[in-house]
Amino acid sequence: MTKRKIIIDTDPGQDDAVAILLALASPEIDLLGLTCVAGNVPLDLTAKNARIICELARRPETRVFAGCDRPLRRKLVTAENVHGKTGLDGITLPDPTMPLQDQHAVDFLIETLRTEPPGTVTLCPIAPLTNIATAMERAPDIIPHIREIVLMGGAYFEVGNITPTAEFNIYVDPEAAKIVFGAGVPLTVMPLDVTHKALTTRTRVEAFRKAGRVGPAVASWTDFFERFDKEKYGSEGAPLHDPCTVAYLLRPELFSGREINVEIETGSDLTLGMTVADWWRVTKRAPNATFIGDVDADGYFALLVERLAQL
Ligand code: RIB
Ligand code: CA
Repeated sequence: MTKRKIIIDTDPGQDDAVAILLALASPEIDLLGLTCVAGNVPLDLTAKNARIICELARRPETRVFAGCDRPLRRKLVTAENVHGKTGLDGITLPDPTMPLQDQHAVDFLIETLRTEPPGTVTLCPIAPLTNIATAMERAPDIIPHIREIVLMGGAYFEVGNITPTAEFNIYVDPEAAKIVFGAGVPLTVMPLDVTHKALTTRTRVEAFRKAGRVGPAVASWTDFFERFDKEKYGSEGAPLHDPCTVAYLLRPELFSGREINVEIETGSDLTLGMTVADWWRVTKRAPNATFIGDVDADGYFALLVERLAQL
């Protein structure tokens, strides 16, 4: 089997953690590295959390890189109210002993995309897009080398989770999102519209708890992470956002969506970071993204439980 080479760009974050564990547990995936960015919590914590997750998976050889510590042109907005002070609240795990790579994450992205055969590396951003946009701006020659970008971010019917009109990953760095969505790379977007159909119900969290060695940690993270969304939406559970990207690479048939145009609002304070998704194709703007609207949630959680139990 030819493994799928991917780089996950991340701001762990409990849901990021499950996405990373899913990638590490899946033989179809060749995880070239984790590039960390400021988002849910500041960069020093996202770079620490990424290594905590790798050590939980007993994969200390995974290369973890620290990247940008703030958005391109704005002040950093974080989400400790959702993820807790550490970004991985819910269970206390040992501080990491594995090293952080010396190379800056942006330099790693550029170097890897220049040296790997063109069209073989997939980027999975599950965080604000600062690292990806910075790499594209600094080295535009890498853009045609990217096989595909599968990102978690944006919203259409679900509108916004950090403002009435914007989803967190896009809102934190809308200028970066504008660059990525306008780069012309094959782009698959996992917006709130699909992640809100992948809720962590009690049954699903209990299935996590029994999923092998890492199960209890995943269930504790989910128990903590879901309280915010349950209270806000009055839902039975919380959307498990980020693993949708890796799950899509493993089982694309679990997901459905449509090729549409998606533009990013960067000019209006009122709707800053909105993904203006032309779902009904009412404009003449050319499609630039596969915008995913639906998921087989039972299939998604079954895949997660099956793979997490392998670690
Ligand atoms: O809006 C959800 C996204 O914001 C997820 O990636 C979550 O980890 C946070 O970064
Ligand atoms: Ca994230």
